[in-house]
Amino acid sequence: MQLFERIAPLRAALKAHRLAGETIGVVPTMGYLHAGHLKLVERAVAESDRVVVTIFVNPTQFGPNEDLDAYPRDLESDLRQLGGLPVDHVFAPPVDEMYGRPMQAFVEVKPLGDILIGEARPGHFRGVATVVTKLFNIVQPDRAYFGEKDYQQLTIIRRMVADLEMPIEIVAVPTVREADGLAMSSRNVRLSPSDRAAATVLARALDKGERLVAGGERDAGLILASTRAVIEAEPRADLRSLDLRDAATLDAVERIGARPVVLLVTARFGDVLLIDQRVAASD
Ligand code: PAJ
Repeated sequence: MQLFERIAPLRAALKAHRLAGETIGVVPTMGYLHAGHLKLVERAVAESDRVVVTIFVNPTQFGPNEDLDAYPRDLESDLRQLGGLPVDHVFAPPVDEMYGRPMQAFVEVKPLGDILIGEARPGHFRGVATVVTKLFNIVQPDRAYFGEKDYQQLTIIRRMVADLEMPIEIVAVPTVREADGLAMSSRNVRLSPSDRAAATVLARALDKGERLVAGGERDAGLILASTRAVIEAEPRADLRSLDLRDAATLDAVERIGARPVVLLVTARFGDVLLIDQRVAASD
């Protein structure tokens, strides 16, 4: 496994693979890797000849009052975890390699990037779409792997790739969870023990919503009310948003039809913002 901090030598190494006819998979991450990230890497390793994992805490997707400085980092542990897998290249650039000059070009996916999380975090998805485009242009992968946990992000990346004719297959990987259902996240380490215990309420609430949809309930308002009641019964949860949307387009849904829907939740526990999602369809 080779570690690159600069774009040019990574490009040179990848060019050799491409000339040899090998396929390239990329797993973009912000590091502080956990089993969720590693699941993406395993998929990439299974499906592509060469795998690049990128580790970059992207400042442009954090707002001025967000947790950029508090975002956990541990490159040594990340490299150790990746060393256990047949990963070919790790790209962990310093900020000045990615943003060496003031940026004038950006990628925006609108209105998808302005709704839901985008409404609460203005500019967040512009930062994500722009850095992912930069990473795609650096790596030029055949496939790129994203987690369903960040469902709106995944939807935005799919749309960006389609609209801009990027020749990259986007592979979605189901959310990896702790034994008690909490979706794995780099932010979980910042939860106090009480908040960590309380945070399982999100998965339990989504279970409830999913069961209602699977059982044939069609009324989105009713499903949301039942799901919200589960979360509001947990005093440590500060519910920020709960939405039921079309799973493919994220359009609002009032009555559930044949198309799958997705339940999306964001909640704060202390000063840690957690997100979770569940795709549901009637049986
Ligand atoms: P990060 O939060 O590090 O996540 C990297 C990838 O891992 C994302 O595709 C995310 O959805 C996936 N992931 C995280 N937790 C997961 C879990 N429990 N199960 C399955 N997949 C999981 O998302 C980002 O970084 C950044 O926005 C990035 C795309 C790298 C752009 O900066």
